[in-house]
Amino acid sequence: MGCQYFDPCAGGADSFTIAIPKFTFGRGCLQESGQRAKALGMTRVGLFTDPILRDSVHVATVRDCLRQAGLDLEIFDQITIEADDASVLRGAQFIREGRFDGIVSVGGGSVIDTAKASMLYALQPTDEFLDYFAPPLGGGKTMPIKLLPHLACPTTSGTGSECTSITVLRINHLGTKFVLANPVLLANEALVDPACCDSLPAKVVASTGFDLLCHALECFTAKAYSQWQKMPDPLARPLIQGANPWSDLAARKALEIAGEYLQRGVNNHLDHEARDQLMWGASLAGMAFGNSGTHLGHALSYGVTHLIQDVTTDDYPVKSPFIPHGISVVLSAPAVFRYTAAATPERHYQAAGYLQADLQDAGADDAGEAIANRLIDLMRNTDMPNGLAAVGFTPQQVPALAASSARQIRAIANAPRETNLTDIENIYASAMTYA
Ligand SMILES: [Fe+2]
Repeated sequence: MGCQYFDPCAGGADSFTIAIPKFTFGRGCLQESGQRAKALGMTRVGLFTDPILRDSVHVATVRDCLRQAGLDLEIFDQITIEADDASVLRGAQFIREGRFDGIVSVGGGSVIDTAKASMLYALQPTDEFLDYFAPPLGGGKTMPIKLLPHLACPTTSGTGSECTSITVLRINHLGTKFVLANPVLLANEALVDPACCDSLPAKVVASTGFDLLCHALECFTAKAYSQWQKMPDPLARPLIQGANPWSDLAARKALEIAGEYLQRGVNNHLDHEARDQLMWGASLAGMAFGNSGTHLGHALSYGVTHLIQDVTTDDYPVKSPFIPHGISVVLSAPAVFRYTAAATPERHYQAAGYLQADLQDAGADDAGEAIANRLIDLMRNTDMPNGLAAVGFTPQQVPALAASSARQIRAIANAPRETNLTDIENIYASAMTYA
């Protein structure tokens, strides 16, 4: 505990680095897209979106604004609801053939993530798709120092991808998702218009809302940056660098927003105040975890996504097997925080307070239980499945889930508590059903 939280540790990092894009937030700000793209030097734009959003008012607004600013554009919409390697390779080909000098993305995390990665693979193609991913899975290949100018416009309130240097892609032949992280993937500008969330269905607001909540909770409770090893080359300092004073600031506010507005935003689509706040919270959480990293909640979600069988989620027109990302994260989250709280009870106690957990008669030693109970409450009040069993998992699948998630090495190492395969199995076993 001597090193908690940002006190120097022997051999530990003594600095942290923050990267966020130029950021515009406000109702109606999509109207600024043309002038902003032009100011970024764009003359011919590759506009990334998905097949459902293509005919939306949001894409129409951006398309019209780009044209009014005198920019030429072509639309790419061949993106699956979970960004995958196939979408990225199609996007890369679109960029190469289109000879664009800038990219505008309008959509949820899948669209923005696909846009980021497509630029990378268009500008510097690789023999193997995994070459750019971190070892041992990937080749750790050096990325170009610059991609095209990118203006990112999110239409959901969860991913925070517009503010991060991270893209999460499903690798189809492995059947699971992996993280690609590099400063070059950061968009130049984010244009965040909460009006995009007005018409989102409840389940989408719930899933993305739990995603933002878990981004904030995981990065607030992550291992301190000063406990990660100091890098001899400052430019090699990773984005997943642990909790730091900057990520604390943004994560704390995002937790307060989730505690206050998540339930309201899900259950009443006319509650603009709640939905606007959730959009703001999602970007804040992105600014936080994009500069600190998540930990076990997200690491364990990848096993769930990998092994999910036949489940349908209302409001998601996607063929099974599929589970929305935020739901895959929050299903294990109560069990995760019961486990991690023992390592840093004070931190967890603070986080529980920000989330409006019931702390009456509770001390720091009760923090894990308080967070878990608060999460379970929020899940119940937003019609989420009550644990992994509710989406079809059985205790017999725990070893397979754990083996799949154990590949998320950096995220697991970012947890405040040293975690081995048996620990991961125990967490999954405790996440089957919540009393
Ligand atoms: Fe996430």
